[in-house]
Amino acid sequence: MESAPGESDAFWEGRWQSGHTPWDHGRPAPPFAEFVQNEGAPTGEILIPGAGSGHDVRFFAELGARVTGLDIAPSAIEVAQARNPCPGARYMLGDILNPAPELHRQFDWVVEHTCLCAMEPKFWPAYAAAIPKLLRPGGHFLALFYRNPHDDAGPPFGIDEATIESLFEPRFSLLKAGVPKQAYESRAGREELRLYRLSD
Ligand SMILES: C[S@@+](CC[C@H](N)C(=O)[O-])C[C@H]1O[C@@H](n2cnc3c(N)ncnc32)[C@H](O)[C@@H]1O
Repeated sequence: MESAPGESDAFWEGRWQSGHTPWDHGRPAPPFAEFVQNEGAPTGEILIPGAGSGHDVRFFAELGARVTGLDIAPSAIEVAQARNPCPGARYMLGDILNPAPELHRQFDWVVEHTCLCAMEPKFWPAYAAAIPKLLRPGGHFLALFYRNPHDDAGPPFGIDEATIESLFEPRFSLLKAGVPKQAYESRAGREELRLYRLSD
């Protein structure tokens, strides 16, 4: 029997080993392209937790950033590394809920896409506590929240506005928020992109 999602890396490793990865659309998240068109490309060091096969990692690396894709499943790392090599992209095995000390304060940006919604809500406070530890002073958290998945039984677990605010707004200032116009067809109108800056 599979482990419950978030209880163990065995659940996600099993998904990658079986090839059952329905979230993977074979390309980066369209809201990030829209963000770059409107705001410019993030620069410096970017961390993407739960990076899966690395589409978003390669997207930002091809724009000039140095991007680390972190994933808890060894097979996800293997899949990502087997894709088109990209000079600014690297992949690391690790748990965003317990990030290695050498990652602390190493990043200008953390980019969230379908990692938070992959975890049971009881793990969200630990996720929210980890992000500020990873950022340099003044760093940014660009988060594509899955507000309204098709099915209540996660993963993915949908998140509401009050929960987003209680998790992140104690440590971050909100700079921008909106429903992206560009999205995977199945997620159109169901996501919200928020840009936060780490408070002093
Ligand atoms: C739904 S998939 C999304 C993958 C990728 N972001 C995408 O959209 O294609 C969630 C990913 O998060 C990884 N993951 C789950 N829990 C994690 C954790 N605690 N730390 C790091 N990665 C995790 C899983 O192995 C999986 O690759």
